[in-house]
Amino acid sequence: MANALELTWENLESAVRDCRRCVLCRERTNTVVGRGSRTAPLMFVGEGPGRQEDEQGLPFVGAAGQLLDVALASLSFGEEDYYIANVVKCRPPGNRTPQPAEAQACLGFLRAQFSLIRPSIIVCLGAVAHTNLVSAEESITRARGKWIEKKGIWFMSTFHPAALLRDESKKLPFWQDLKAVKQKLEEVKAARKAQADQKQGQL
Ligand code: URA
Repeated sequence: MANALELTWENLESAVRDCRRCVLCRERTNTVVGRGSRTAPLMFVGEGPGRQEDEQGLPFVGAAGQLLDVALASLSFGEEDYYIANVVKCRPPGNRTPQPAEAQACLGFLRAQFSLIRPSIIVCLGAVAHTNLVSAEESITRARGKWIEKKGIWFMSTFHPAALLRDESKKLPFWQDLKAVKQKLEEVKAARKAQADQKQGQL
């Protein structure tokens, strides 16, 4: 985000809307910032908007998003539990993978979202998020399901839901990863509640 601006959702959304930092701005219909709870303990980060996301200005509303929503609901994730965003905020033409330079140009916006939401858990959906947020060295197939703590935030990478639509064999490991995320989420929520109760007791 522009350095001089105060970090607010309004400023972030307007900076994304006006962004011309890379070629992806040329063909976008809408920028796609995110959806979900802005106070959530958990964030999911995907790759970039597809056709439906570009049309609606919301992430994960197409087939991959529907699969993700069903998986999250079946594991009883509540809507207040998570926020969903992408590495790039504009649709890559033809749904191609964003170029590393495009991801780099856009990462400041994602970091601003981390600062506003202050999640305790970040789940990388697929290789683009994994490469940009966790590790460029280890492939998603090797890294998936492992927890890494960085600056007090728990990171896990798993398959992108679109990969499950192409390869059924990824469904079970994806499900197992989400189950582990749900367990970590419950731990984090309990710790946050204990902290809030303690603060309340000190008043
Ligand atoms: N795939 C993504 O990575 N993000 C979306 O928003 C939709 C599909």
